[in-house]
Amino acid sequence: MTDSHRPQRPRRLRTDGVRPLVSETELDASDLIAPVFVDATTDERVPIETMPGHERVPVAEAADRVREIRETGVEAVIVFGVPESKDNEGARAWAKDGVVQKAVREISRETNAYVITDVCLCEYTDHGHCGVLEPGAREDPTLTVENDPTLDALARTAVSHAEAGANMVAPSAMMDGMVGAIREGLDEAGHTEVPIMSYAAKYESAFYGPFRDAADGAPAFGDRRHYQMDPANAREAMREVELDVEEGADVLMVKPALPYLDIVRDVRERFDHPVAAYNVSGEYAMLHAASEQDWLDLEATAYESLLSIKRAGADLILTYFAEDLAERL
Ligand code: PBG
Repeated sequence: MTDSHRPQRPRRLRTDGVRPLVSETELDASDLIAPVFVDATTDERVPIETMPGHERVPVAEAADRVREIRETGVEAVIVFGVPESKDNEGARAWAKDGVVQKAVREISRETNAYVITDVCLCEYTDHGHCGVLEPGAREDPTLTVENDPTLDALARTAVSHAEAGANMVAPSAMMDGMVGAIREGLDEAGHTEVPIMSYAAKYESAFYGPFRDAADGAPAFGDRRHYQMDPANAREAMREVELDVEEGADVLMVKPALPYLDIVRDVRERFDHPVAAYNVSGEYAMLHAASEQDWLDLEATAYESLLSIKRAGADLILTYFAEDLAERL
């Protein structure tokens, strides 16, 4: 019973001895997924200017790069590819000897990392969109990507990744029916045990800017507003996530993370699947930029950001801070 004459003193639980005992949220290296960029156009590592500390690595160094990550305690990676050439369809996305396929083969052979692949076409199409263009889209800004013809390309890409040894696939194209098409493709090819982490609620966000430098995947014209979600919408995200659950998604991702923590929380409360949040390139770049000016403490703000994402309800976090954080833990 509280005595109404005595003041409540929450500060009692903030002394150094008791703070850790009552701490509600903990970050662990096993929650983290580190992005890896593999580039078929180079035979040397190339630093990514807008993401200090990150680089594109040639296929021959993909396994080394993953070993470095593993040494920090991070066990899972998500692989992105920059292909040697691009075309209208994005055919290098599902090529047996494509950049991701080759890198994944190397990584699985030489390390014990848990390997996830991003399944999308934007890095592979010469127009930079995430699928097959609607006829006339290059001239008419009201047109972009055709949904259904893109599904087949995404399913083929996912199957080719699984064939190369990917442990999990993560479709990020925001096409309707994408998870179902990929599940069917994987199952028919015998990859019934490969889970799908869906970029279920992926917003059309300006925070992807530095990634588009890193992976060379910016749209050559227009933007992605006709397939990625409107940042104004939260209820719609629940509908997107629900559909992915029905189609067989195993892990539900929200992206970006920090500007969308309400969505992370909503997904956590409404669904029992594991929830992932993608702390995207812009979230990483802005903390680096501010810390370079001595305006923010990089380590402290990175830690607080990731802790907040976890506190909001994420079980898994994809983050460019993975190695730095794991090293500190
Ligand atoms: C699409 C994809 C993107 C990101 C991950 N997968 C880019 C986009 O949708 O434009 C962004 C990740 C980041 O910003 O860190 N293949």
